Amino acid sequence: MLCKICKAKGKREKAVIFIRHHKLALCKNHFLEWFEKQTLKTIKHFSMFNRGEKIGVAVSGGKDSLSLWQLLTEAGFETVGIHISLGIGKDNYSEKSLKLCEKLSEKLNRPLIVFDLKEEFGYTIEEIAKLSGRKDVCSVCGTFKRYLMNKIAIEENLSVVATGHNLDDESAVLLSNTIRWETGYLGRQYPVLSEREGFARKVKPFCFLTEKEIVSYAILKGIDFMETGCPNAKTATSPVYKQALAFLEHKMAGTKLRFYKEFLKKAKPLFEKEAKEEYNLTPCKICGMPTTANVCSVCRILEKIRGVNAKSGKN
Ligand code: AMP
Ligand code: FES
Ligand code: ZN
Ligand code: ZN
Repeated sequence: MLCKICKAKGKREKAVIFIRHHKLALCKNHFLEWFEKQTLKTIKHFSMFNRGEKIGVAVSGGKDSLSLWQLLTEAGFETVGIHISLGIGKDNYSEKSLKLCEKLSEKLNRPLIVFDLKEEFGYTIEEIAKLSGRKDVCSVCGTFKRYLMNKIAIEENLSVVATGHNLDDESAVLLSNTIRWETGYLGRQYPVLSEREGFARKVKPFCFLTEKEIVSYAILKGIDFMETGCPNAKTATSPVYKQALAFLEHKMAGTKLRFYKEFLKKAKPLFEKEAKEEYNLTPCKICGMPTTANVCSVCRILEKIRGVNAKSGKN
């Protein structure tokens, strides 16, 4: 297959990727150009951030967030990487993830802020989940990551945090919320969450790009990334929704993009009234971050496990 753009210019260049839902075959250079343009268009369309703002990029070590960090930096934005090291020992997962983030930080010559859970709190994420009596480590992990990314952004004066969520992630969440008619969540699902007192803005510049496109970008740009996902993620239900959407996409190219884009345009506004507003936020009595209770959920979990360990004589 030949690159469509080169062909239009009378050149014969072999395509490296075929983007089925856009019916677009592109060579390496034209694909990279297309990919960067799509991302910048999304940033502009949703007014995610401006030049001159300092952008925190939450990097896990995976293809999405590392690609995003490189792309934003090369596009001339002032970026800072934020990595939460969770202490997952299986397959040396956390150690390897941190190394990959550090490697890119050096390559891009941009700072990386690392928050090590074990060093700062005394426990790894698996210990926190176990001691607090929660079976689903990834869900506790999600609570801690969201809390810490926000806390670090506020403390470091970063007005915005960008994450690597892609079209496959966003359409799977949308399908899951639609199947269960979680109207509160549907009213809130959006590529930008505005800043409020105590909360930095959250943005998803890759929300219209697929996993396949991002992995191609990462490989073509020579980015080293974690090829395996979190070893605790086996219980997560999102792969089921991803598989369902992959099947539909295979039968009808463009389903994922249409499903998500049309939702943002036509359905999300209808549910906005039902969005689960966090009323009456007050500073957490322990850490000072905004919460609806006296003590925020992260401090509550930490207090609980420290209490358990104090009683059993540990720590
Ligand atoms: P996930 O929920 O693992 O699919 O990750 C979604 C996004 O959250 C990633 O693309 C990153 O931007 C961010 N993220 C996930 N894990 C971490 C981590 N350990 N440290 C910093 N950011 C992370
Ligand atoms: Fe963090 Fe699974 S334990 S995502
Ligand atoms: Zn070309
Ligand atoms: Zn707190």
